[in-house]
Amino acid sequence: MTDQPQDAGDQLAASTSEASLRRTEARSAEIEAQIAVDPSQFRVMTGDRPTGNLHLGHYFGSLANRVRLQDAGVDTYILVADYQVITDRDGTGPIFERVLGMMADYLAIGLDPEKTTIYAHSAVPSLNQLLLPFLSLVTESELRRNPTVKAELEATGDRPMSGLLLTYPVHQAADILFCKANLVPVGKDQLPHLEQTRVVARRFDERYGRVDPARPVFPQAEALLSKASTVLGLDGTKMSKTKGNVIEIGMDAGTTANLIKKAVTDSDRFITYDPQNRPEVSNLIMLASLCTGRDPVAIAADLGNAGGGGLKKLVTEAVNEFFAPIRARRVELAADPGYLLEVLRKGNAHANEVGEATLAEVRAAMNMTY
Ligand code: TRP
Repeated sequence: MTDQPQDAGDQLAASTSEASLRRTEARSAEIEAQIAVDPSQFRVMTGDRPTGNLHLGHYFGSLANRVRLQDAGVDTYILVADYQVITDRDGTGPIFERVLGMMADYLAIGLDPEKTTIYAHSAVPSLNQLLLPFLSLVTESELRRNPTVKAELEATGDRPMSGLLLTYPVHQAADILFCKANLVPVGKDQLPHLEQTRVVARRFDERYGRVDPARPVFPQAEALLSKASTVLGLDGTKMSKTKGNVIEIGMDAGTTANLIKKAVTDSDRFITYDPQNRPEVSNLIMLASLCTGRDPVAIAADLGNAGGGGLKKLVTEAVNEFFAPIRARRVELAADPGYLLEVLRKGNAHANEVGEATLAEVRAAMNMTY
């Protein structure tokens, strides 16, 4: 009875506590320093659900960081998490178009298929098969206590918990471990999943043992929290497609201008950067800052008495100028779906090779090589 999993529910919940968050941030800074010296120690894995087009919140919150890591020489795996689409909704929607749109977004922002492997859940059977042994390593009660699963369940209203919603953190462990990634650039909301991934890797080692006695089959994956500030939506709340407060990466300049024109500001004509008391105005300033590389306080000072109108004009120019080359590339890419599919298929093929090798090791550790 020694290898009965201890319930890790508390551990998962604690991963988002203030103290734990500060430790993770400090560790992320150390990892960044190591990447600068030797990027070859790391394999990065992360991904997105193809539920809609990627937007500026995604870009500044995580996509730009992936391109930076890729360009720093870190081996990078990006998952089009198509099976995760059906965790909290019925049906896949226009998934084919969405996946192609996401491929266009990825390549337009600078993810390079020569350096980065882009692949989809549904195309990598070995990844999905890992879910079986992994599910043997977790308890129902710890899954129920995962704070991110709880939050997602609440967000679906009165929907009952599906088996997939309950277990998707274990599937996400398979996403990370099928390629033995040791670094996962994510936001805070994903930290419980990473803790779950470490728990799965550790328990696999305890229960099924090793093939190479010198190292466990699966590494302990760490989070890389990005320093990037969160860009809010045009109403000052979280940028989210369902709220209609989103600027998509692929929108054209005119649509962007119209959306920013409708953004929420406040009645004080004098522009200041004050995220605490003026969240909507400050968010717009931050957006201009991210696009121009200028300090937000300096931007506000320049605007002075320009009012909401002056601010919006500046933000529109900044966003449209910054994204112009990305959008031009995206238009070209979107016109060539054959190429986008080819890139995805190449990524899938590579992911299958890597996943098969891992699965062979898993079978060997479990004495299931026949
Ligand atoms: N859960 C992530 C999201 O909703 C997407 C994702 C799927 C992911 N698998 C992953 C992120 C593995 C990091 C690692 O955005």
